[in-house]
Amino acid sequence: MKEVIRYIKDNRGNYVEELKDFLRIPSISTLPEHKDDIEKCAKFVAEKLKKASLSRVEIFKTEGHPLVYGEWLGAPGKPTVLIYGHYDVQPVDPIELWNNPPFDPVVKNGKIFARGATDDKGQVFMHIKSVEAFFKTEGSLPLNVKFIIEGEEEIGSESLNAFIKRNSELLKCDAVLISDTPLYKAGVPTLTYGLRGLAYLEVEVAGPNRDLHSGTFGGTVANPINTLANIISKLHDKNGKITIPNFYDDVLNISKKEKENYKALKFSEKKFAEDLGVSKLNGEKGYSTLEKIWVRPTLDCNGIIGGFTGKGAKTVLPAKAISKISMRLVPNQDPGTVVKQFVRYIKKLAPETVKVEVKDLHGSLPCLTPLEDPAIVAASRAMEKAFGKKTVYVRDGGSIPIVPVFTKKLKAAIVLMGLGLNSENLHSPNEHFDLNHFHLGIISSAYFLKEYSDN
Ligand code: BES
Ligand code: MN
Ligand code: MN
Repeated sequence: MKEVIRYIKDNRGNYVEELKDFLRIPSISTLPEHKDDIEKCAKFVAEKLKKASLSRVEIFKTEGHPLVYGEWLGAPGKPTVLIYGHYDVQPVDPIELWNNPPFDPVVKNGKIFARGATDDKGQVFMHIKSVEAFFKTEGSLPLNVKFIIEGEEEIGSESLNAFIKRNSELLKCDAVLISDTPLYKAGVPTLTYGLRGLAYLEVEVAGPNRDLHSGTFGGTVANPINTLANIISKLHDKNGKITIPNFYDDVLNISKKEKENYKALKFSEKKFAEDLGVSKLNGEKGYSTLEKIWVRPTLDCNGIIGGFTGKGAKTVLPAKAISKISMRLVPNQDPGTVVKQFVRYIKKLAPETVKVEVKDLHGSLPCLTPLEDPAIVAASRAMEKAFGKKTVYVRDGGSIPIVPVFTKKLKAAIVLMGLGLNSENLHSPNEHFDLNHFHLGIISSAYFLKEYSDN
């Protein structure tokens, strides 16, 4: 093991250069014009897996974006770990707010800046490098490893979902190792045991059959933007509760013990607000900020389109207005049920003066994973060795849609060993990844493979 760790330390600089090549590929999954980049990125990952000495590497075509699979099963009798991550990234807009081009990575103050740096290319790369380090030094791995790296996480993981149903034998494993979540704080080893689910929708309000002069027609027909804004404003009450009937029916309350655990994390609401540049926090009354992010469901308008949004002036009453809305769900809410409740309620809120349509874009179940599994114990020890500190256990507010599918179809333990930070601008301009965490992540991954091999 000493050799493995020394090798990783000696190659710290090389890893950053290789990661830059990964980050140069604009693999934006949601934009069709980046289809070739997605293919190129899948090939890049496959090449790196081959170079890491995996014995079988394959790119599986799907209805959507390709899946990259790799395996080394040379340790019979030892556990099998499935390493999951995603090579796709979010769009870059608003591009003018980036200090450097998003696909031209630069290192500043020990951080690497590029789209996908922390979410999730940098974190995927840690595991490829830890596996490689074992082969370079010991010539083998202490257990069996499979990789499944997908290109559709940011758009709902539909193809991987279908793939798992048909190939559960290929992906069979004892534990799934994922690095796609943040550390609780810089330098604090963290394991995540809960993620929120998601219902992501689009609401379209249609009024007149064409855009109208707002002087000639204004005041005679319903304005779709005004109407949409009005509907959105009714989705919360004055206490920040979501007003959809029966929305909270399946929400699991947390135990006293879990509440206590949150207290011990000493979360600073003041610092949180300062970081975000707001003078006062908002949200559902009666809950702490950690509870609001981790264990309470939320509803947010994520985007709104309508009318004239260019520079300058154009007096127009728009024909339609669209809003993209996300609801973050918690155990035991089900996105299917919530979508039905939402549609019913929106139809009720909509006046007769407009037509309202709701499109279900994608969804994800929430998840909670047991902490007693040997894989979690091994991961906790591994991170403590790498960081020289005690591991903390947290939940998180984001979603990884495939996680509940792994739980159900593979019946394997889930280890969410993320090395990112919430402050690293994932999904927004100037995304970055702390290179010290990148380095510690490679070491944590290596220790995990070793620790878990003793099970
Ligand atoms: N890595 C994130 C998930 C995440 C972010 C977990 C922050 C915990 C904290 C992932 O890439 C992501 O962005 N997921 C999407 C899923 C969706 C597009 C289906 C999300 O949460 O919005
Ligand atoms: Mn991610
Ligand atoms: Mn993401």
